[in-house]
Amino acid sequence: MSESIKILPNGPYQVSPDTKLTIQSIGADADRISREWQQGPEYPEKLTAYFLCRCGRSANKPYCDGAHEAARFNGAETADRTPYAQRAKKYEGEAVDLLDDERCAQLRFCDAGIGAWNLAIKSGDPNNLELAKQECANCSSGRLTLVQKDGMPIEPDLPKEIDCVQDPPRGIRGPLKVTGGIPLTGADGQDYEPRNRYTLCRCGLSKNKPFCDTRHINCTHMEGFDSVSE
Ligand code: FES
Repeated sequence: MSESIKILPNGPYQVSPDTKLTIQSIGADADRISREWQQGPEYPEKLTAYFLCRCGRSANKPYCDGAHEAARFNGAETADRTPYAQRAKKYEGEAVDLLDDERCAQLRFCDAGIGAWNLAIKSGDPNNLELAKQECANCSSGRLTLVQKDGMPIEPDLPKEIDCVQDPPRGIRGPLKVTGGIPLTGADGQDYEPRNRYTLCRCGLSKNKPFCDTRHINCTHMEGFDSVSE
């Protein structure tokens, strides 16, 4: 297997043929607090490279249909390439620490209980530590990472795949959730830092391309949901 994602200049994400693509929804409780990822269907396996929309204008989401050309999509990548460990702020906790680089995708898994930051700070309580681990594992943008006191990150074991995020409480599509350390190469040919979790913008509006910066929540062209049958 050789999963990979390459960004095309002012165009889509080019994905290697053996990269699994699925739909996943935010499972929220009655208070609209995100609790779990709900697995949806998988798109048919591709024999050749495939192209995922990055501009948000495709009528065939999640795939590119060429609409980026008429839209004159500006896909310039502006994200800070400083490694996460250097970029992130550290919150000291009782049993573990929390790193936070503020690269948010508005998936809202960090809100449950007293919130991931307070859970980490009060991680001497085993219940708080367990919930902090869950919330950070579900933080698909990779913003939040728990680290042991010896500096070792606490990372979940995630499959190599791309998931098209659906946000039912908001009635919109979210970013592309990439897990398992799939390599990402910019349009300039430079590789991004390998990460176990990251979220790619697919509304075209992020000011931190190629990564999601939450702007999809306020754009009408991300309304509705993806479907494998469409
Ligand atoms: S990137 Fe091609 S239609 Fe959006």
